[in-house]
Amino acid sequence: MSAVNRPRRSCLAVPGSNPRFLEKAQGLAADQVFLDLEDACAPLEKEGARHKIVEALNQGDWGGKTRTVRVNDLTTHWTYRDVITVVEGAGANLDCVMLPKVQDAGQVVWLDLLLTQIEKTMGLEVGRIGIEAQIENAKGLVNVDAIAAASPRIETIIFGPADFMASINMKSLVVGEQPPGYDVGDAYHYILMRILMAARAHDVQAIDGPYLQIRNVEGFRTVAGRSAALGFDGKWVLHPDQIAVANEVYAPSQEDYDHAELILDAYAFHTSEAGGKKGSAMLGDEMIDEASRKMALVVAGKGRAAGY
Ligand code: GLV
Ligand code: MG
Repeated sequence: MSAVNRPRRSCLAVPGSNPRFLEKAQGLAADQVFLDLEDACAPLEKEGARHKIVEALNQGDWGGKTRTVRVNDLTTHWTYRDVITVVEGAGANLDCVMLPKVQDAGQVVWLDLLLTQIEKTMGLEVGRIGIEAQIENAKGLVNVDAIAAASPRIETIIFGPADFMASINMKSLVVGEQPPGYDVGDAYHYILMRILMAARAHDVQAIDGPYLQIRNVEGFRTVAGRSAALGFDGKWVLHPDQIAVANEVYAPSQEDYDHAELILDAYAFHTSEAGGKKGSAMLGDEMIDEASRKMALVVAGKGRAAGY
């Protein structure tokens, strides 16, 4: 179970090898940035990118955003050096390390131990840096409960649709869109729900991955709307135009927020001494009880976090 529940409606991907993007990202309205050493960084740029990321974390003004670095996955030879260079260099200015293509709990335990050793060596607070785990293949999904439970550092379970579709041989080239020929439902429903259940069972956040058609803002809104409706906490954004949409879609509407606060107030009154200590009551035409209070609390909580 994670001690931290940071706002993550919009999680901005920033290539670690590109100083211009590292600079520009600081002024954007994303809740989170993740500086990428994995797929947005060419192999020959990875070593240099580690140092650019350290500098950007230490010198930049990230304005309260959650700062994450995505390292390379554990089937490569880069992972340990990514973690050591970035955390030794900028551990005090880093909130989380994101591990892509996680396949089992042991990979999370490895990262947890390495972080603990670096924190102790560098005199950093032990356990402060969180872990974000990307689920991007069948093995990761089958093991997702154990992955979510593998370390108290885990803050998110993230769906990586592009790698996931490739790894299961899905016949599609457009991330987030339904595979052509599948017209009987949402091909992503099972995967999203599986991730969401693991995240909720272990009290960590569930984050949806990227939508690559960056010029199609309405397409982004539709796909984001699906995971937001299920209960996901946020989604990756690859372009400034996607940020405002994500911030809107993963927060409740003003109307729903106001209604949720009304339910909470009415329930508090009706269950009180003055309100007659009732277990259920009417609010207009709607019956409200303890379960309605819990549902209202979710919507109100998301709205309060979004600053309503
Ligand atoms: C993200 O990493 C993805 O593969 O979709
Ligand atoms: Mg991926």
